[in-house]
Amino acid sequence: MAVTLIINGQSTEAELGLSLFDQAEAMGIDVPTSCRKQGKCKECMVEVVEGMEALSPATEAERHLKGNFRLSCQTFVTGSSGPVSGGLVRCHTMRRGHMRIERQAYGLPASGQALELDPAVTRDGDRILIDGIEVERSAGPIHGIAMDLGTTTVVVRLMDLESGELIADTSFENPQRFGGSEIMSRIAYDTSHPGRLLMRTLAGYLSHAIEKFPIDPKTIYEMVVVGNSTMRDLFFRQNVYSIGQTPYRSITEIELAEGKRKTTSLVESGLRSLLPIHPKARVYGAPIISGHVGADAAACMLAADLAHEERLIAIMDIGTNTELVVGNRDRILAASCPAGPAFEGGAIACGMPALDGAIEEVEIGEDGNFEIRVIGDVAPDGICGSGLVDLLSELLRTGRMNERGRFEDDVHRIVLSHGESGNVYLLESDVNELAQAKGANVAGIQVVFSTYGINFDDIDMFYLAGGFGRHINVEASKRIGLVPNLAPEEFVRAGNLAIEGATIALISKAKRQELEELVRKVQHCRLETHPNFFDFFVEGCQFKAVEPISCAR
Ligand code: FES
Repeated sequence: MAVTLIINGQSTEAELGLSLFDQAEAMGIDVPTSCRKQGKCKECMVEVVEGMEALSPATEAERHLKGNFRLSCQTFVTGSSGPVSGGLVRCHTMRRGHMRIERQAYGLPASGQALELDPAVTRDGDRILIDGIEVERSAGPIHGIAMDLGTTTVVVRLMDLESGELIADTSFENPQRFGGSEIMSRIAYDTSHPGRLLMRTLAGYLSHAIEKFPIDPKTIYEMVVVGNSTMRDLFFRQNVYSIGQTPYRSITEIELAEGKRKTTSLVESGLRSLLPIHPKARVYGAPIISGHVGADAAACMLAADLAHEERLIAIMDIGTNTELVVGNRDRILAASCPAGPAFEGGAIACGMPALDGAIEEVEIGEDGNFEIRVIGDVAPDGICGSGLVDLLSELLRTGRMNERGRFEDDVHRIVLSHGESGNVYLLESDVNELAQAKGANVAGIQVVFSTYGINFDDIDMFYLAGGFGRHINVEASKRIGLVPNLAPEEFVRAGNLAIEGATIALISKAKRQELEELVRKVQHCRLETHPNFFDFFVEGCQFKAVEPISCAR
């Protein structure tokens, strides 16, 4: 029986007995590898969305993979004997093209002002020095890289450290997803699988990305890494077990409290990083704040210039773990809200990341029909976070869903589009997942604002950071109560503040020092220990504007 094979949306008739890797190569699809299909590098992963029964059984080399993940070099198309699949295999590589990953930052106070170039890596004739210590003799260029290592996506910038110019940037889906889509699963995976597989897999992908830059990787002498506490510590091969257990503290935070270290930042050599950069390069992991409030939140504060900000600023990065920072140069509070992956399309029947085929905007017309906009202008395949926010807002506006997330007329499923590859729909149970994600965010907002002793209208600027924050409709977000009910001009959809902060810390020693000091100023609000957390959460699960709770000043 003929088997139709769809890889990354490209379709072909599969050749039986050939590996998925070879079939992908024949289709011109780039599959990451460092071991020439030997089953050793673990980089050639694919996620099989449909038709696992038409593939050969998992091999010993795939023992570390869970769920629908396979190594494409070890997986052969055998054909299905069952009538249901109809001989269809649908899968995708980790490095899917056109994934919308935010690489830039917008609307920052420092935008347009030149930052003084003051890198740690300098030149003295042909001597290349890090903090004044010679690491190489070369007349060649001096480069550095900044990385925002997210649970879902990775963004890397290559900088010329002598001119301060951005030379290139790149982004890809974090391949560690085979260990789970959120932080707690990754911690459990790393703890139960010896060999640092998550770190090694990422290092393989990252090495390929670095090698594709238009420079000799050995001219990279410094790297600044930001990420949430778990992602950063996995990268530096720290034991992450304690971040998954209450009171959720990184090893570095524990050691800081015990007086064994002076900062939660980490440093290692290029050699130890497993990356193709200069072996004596310095790899600096920016300091984490506390608990799950990590180095990415710290980098956002640096990018927003919080150390000099007199106005009251809020920075909210909505994601699997939403980070919220509120304050100014005098006082800063931060919290991490365990929202889960619902607003990134996870745990939603037709949810998907912001890839081609994702419904990203939804409106309900006067005739009651859905008007949708799809990324890539292709047939809809699913719905991503910004589309979900629009959809909930429109259902609420038109009375087709009430504040408790129930659909009218006992309907349990609302179909947005009909298509050849299936319908895209929203279930009432999906709304429940989204309500809980929203409840966690709102609880974070209420805990931080009430602890600070301020109301929403005291905020002068509300930065929505990250890819999700960049693309959501603010009015729709306000209507469903995902963000506070502020005037539109107070919101800045700021994009990737974390990579901006990492870049600033890379090109300026003074700013890196400022970052270290800024982190020490932050008061961490632990949501789980706040007496009103549960009430805030329950209230926040309702789809209505977030009202400020009255607070003593
Ligand atoms: S190509 Fe290395 S494991 Fe498949």
